[in-house]
Amino acid sequence: MFEIENFDIRLNTDYIGRNFIYVEEIDSTNTFLLDKKNGVSISGTVVLAEKQTKGRGRKDRVWYSSKEQNLTFSILLFREYKLFEKLNLLNFSASLSVATSIENLYQLKTELKWPNDVLINKKKTCGILLESSSHGSKIDRVVIGIGVNVNQTMFQGQFNYPPTSIRNELGREIERERLLAEILNNFEFYLNKVMYEPEFIIREWKEKCRMLGEKVYIKEGELVKNGIFEDIDKEGFLLLKTKEGIEKITIGDVSLV
Ligand code: BTN
Repeated sequence: MFEIENFDIRLNTDYIGRNFIYVEEIDSTNTFLLDKKNGVSISGTVVLAEKQTKGRGRKDRVWYSSKEQNLTFSILLFREYKLFEKLNLLNFSASLSVATSIENLYQLKTELKWPNDVLINKKKTCGILLESSSHGSKIDRVVIGIGVNVNQTMFQGQFNYPPTSIRNELGREIERERLLAEILNNFEFYLNKVMYEPEFIIREWKEKCRMLGEKVYIKEGELVKNGIFEDIDKEGFLLLKTKEGIEKITIGDVSLV
């Protein structure tokens, strides 16, 4: 059982998570916040679900997560037009928030995998799905869905990367309330940086990405591209050095050769 009071006393934000919706079961926290018919339009709203019946991952994958073991939640940003100009940096902010929280609370070394997975010991402990919906031709809501494997110990199903949980890597059970509050506190800090010091986000993200300079391949559907992970540009795209020159990668899964 998630104790909302215990979470609340640790939350230190101005607006992220101040409107907090806790549900036992839902199809997907992202789907819920994206749908304007549900009537949630307070920026910073967080929806946390103990169980998702249709949890979604990137590229139409399924996100599996055991009931009451982990953190599956989404954050709504509503009409934050300045932030919406930098969607990749929002993605980076989310993964940085999770990585920093894990390092600070449990002294576990984390690694970031482009575009937004958080790894511990080369295994995936968190995935992020950023989605948006528009009013007319203008994006008016962005939903950042975060799934952190916290206390789950067994993983079944098909994964594009070997999964793990914080508990598996640390060897003890984790207090989810404290972790969620820390992630949201950090997320608000990074949002501020997206607005006023975007280069800080890129710098921090690159420090935690251990694939930089390595030989990698990028898979996008059937297409595979090989090269060297040269850099991240200021918008957050991956720059791949190939025989033909530098190619800007906007989508795909990156793996070490
Ligand atoms: C991925 O690595 O493919 C992204 C996984 C994102 C999962 C989270 S769990 C909360 C939110 N609701 C969803 O349906 N998906 C995201």
